[in-house]
Amino acid sequence: MESHESYDPAAWAWPQLDDLSLARLRAVPIWTLALEVELGAGEMLGKFAAKEPDPLVREALELQGFEEDRHGRILSCMIERYGLIVKPDVPKQNPTRGAFIDFGYNECVDSVAGFGIFRLACDARVFPVALTSLFQRVIEEEARHIVFFVNWIAWDRTRRGLRGPILQAIPVLYSYAAAIGRRIKGGARLQSDQTEEQPLDLFADVVNGLTLAKFLRACIGENDRYMAAFDPRLIRPRLIPALIRVALAIVEAIDFLQAAFSKSARQSPT
Ligand SMILES: [Fe+2]
Ligand SMILES: [Fe+2]
Repeated sequence: MESHESYDPAAWAWPQLDDLSLARLRAVPIWTLALEVELGAGEMLGKFAAKEPDPLVREALELQGFEEDRHGRILSCMIERYGLIVKPDVPKQNPTRGAFIDFGYNECVDSVAGFGIFRLACDARVFPVALTSLFQRVIEEEARHIVFFVNWIAWDRTRRGLRGPILQAIPVLYSYAAAIGRRIKGGARLQSDQTEEQPLDLFADVVNGLTLAKFLRACIGENDRYMAAFDPRLIRPRLIPALIRVALAIVEAIDFLQAAFSKSARQSPT
């Protein structure tokens, strides 16, 4: 709550974009889904917060609801400013504990990938700095949300008497698996929604040189950097970063073996 910042995206200096940046922005397929998620979460969280008996936790939940709704308003400003074609159908969600928990685990999965994608996009200058710098706050707020969520859920399970590590670990693993499943389904929906041909050439210079290892390294590096900013007494989300580290170790081992085999194949006399 102390790190909450007050700002209004409608008052931001949204930059003028050149034709390539505008075409790239329009080609990004996630704006409809992102707007639905943020606006739906803002409403669900606001109503869920009202049910929380602890006044301090209620205020923190309300604040997150306000920030999610503001993420929706940031996207709406961008959509309007740059004439993006977006047809949101904001799902009505029951403001239950289960809905907040599902949303929290979704954020834990999305954020780590989002940290990496945002870093790579900034480094590759996919969009002008004047635009990406506006979204830095959103990324930092998502980092705060996932740290808040994992601490909230540990606290909530403890107040329900589910203290033991096994009683904590089983629902955590189940919830992460469900969140990953929802994201795989969401990815499939994004692909089926994509009616126009994917304008890959718009991003050709960005995709050039991008490897899976580079992406995973960006996710982990940025996750560690954002997480280091929080009070050391707070719990951090651990499972997704651990899975990414394992995936990175496997990808690096495969790359190493491929490089070693191709070197020995080149050196062996035929
Ligand atoms: Fe958000
Ligand atoms: Fe969030």
